[in-house]
Amino acid sequence: MALPDDIQNPDTYRRWRDAKLSAYPASIDALTVPVDEPAAPAKDQIYELAQICGRANMAIYEGPGGTGEDKRVPIAMGRALGLKNVERSLTTENDGVSALEVAAGGPKSAYIPYTDRRLGWHTDGCYNDDYHAINGFILHCVRAAREGGENFLLDPEIAYIYLRDENPDYIDGLMQPNALSIPANEKDGKIIRAAHSGPALALDPITHALHLRYTARKSYVAWLDDARVLGALEFLEAMLSDDCSHIFRVKLRPGSGLVGNNVLHGRTKFEDGDGPGDKRLIYRIYYQDRISGAGEGALS
Ligand SMILES: [Fe+2]
Repeated sequence: MALPDDIQNPDTYRRWRDAKLSAYPASIDALTVPVDEPAAPAKDQIYELAQICGRANMAIYEGPGGTGEDKRVPIAMGRALGLKNVERSLTTENDGVSALEVAAGGPKSAYIPYTDRRLGWHTDGCYNDDYHAINGFILHCVRAAREGGENFLLDPEIAYIYLRDENPDYIDGLMQPNALSIPANEKDGKIIRAAHSGPALALDPITHALHLRYTARKSYVAWLDDARVLGALEFLEAMLSDDCSHIFRVKLRPGSGLVGNNVLHGRTKFEDGDGPGDKRLIYRIYYQDRISGAGEGALS
């Protein structure tokens, strides 16, 4: 759901807010669509997923399982949802798919997604500039962990509502052009990713879609030293750790996946089993596109 273009107007905001909250899925079941064949999803199932994304900026497809290690499955699902422009991270393979699993060594093991540790609240691509913004993503489960590995999820539009209802100045603070800075990623004296500074909350000038840059981590991140920003962060942190009622929790099952418009998310720590078929494996694709809530992109 795009925000109305005069969202600053209190009456407009109130109407949009009330409509958003009343249409919001009440449970993880209301977010989930059974999909018979995720590698070749049916149009009505894709339409339903897109409709749910229009209300919650995320949806879950539940496949029959047993799709195995086939990267074509999430690629096909993305295409069917109208996601075409893949964005790569430093650890993404050439096909645009990242295989998230525990890396026993090597460069990937330095990144938390490739460990079994808890991954705190964040949106993806906080370090990306405007030309490489991540607006959509897919997490497709090939294998689930034996224990843990649950995702926790929150629609950024819901976070916006909580923040604005608490104090409208928080919104203005987070929209400042230098609200969040991520320092350069350097290795052996070489810059492998440039520093990036930008707003934490931004509205796309054309679509009015809300984009949130947020990370709960405390290192390699610099928030603007501004009372409105710091107040917003304190509020957000309390809200995310307080089990707010709009947070969804899900442990993806094999053959199932999460599609979303770069919602706030994280992952609990997990424990793999001993056998090779008992180790968590998630395929992740980042996109510059968003999922069209109306579903029209999904049917093209
Ligand atoms: Fe992420």
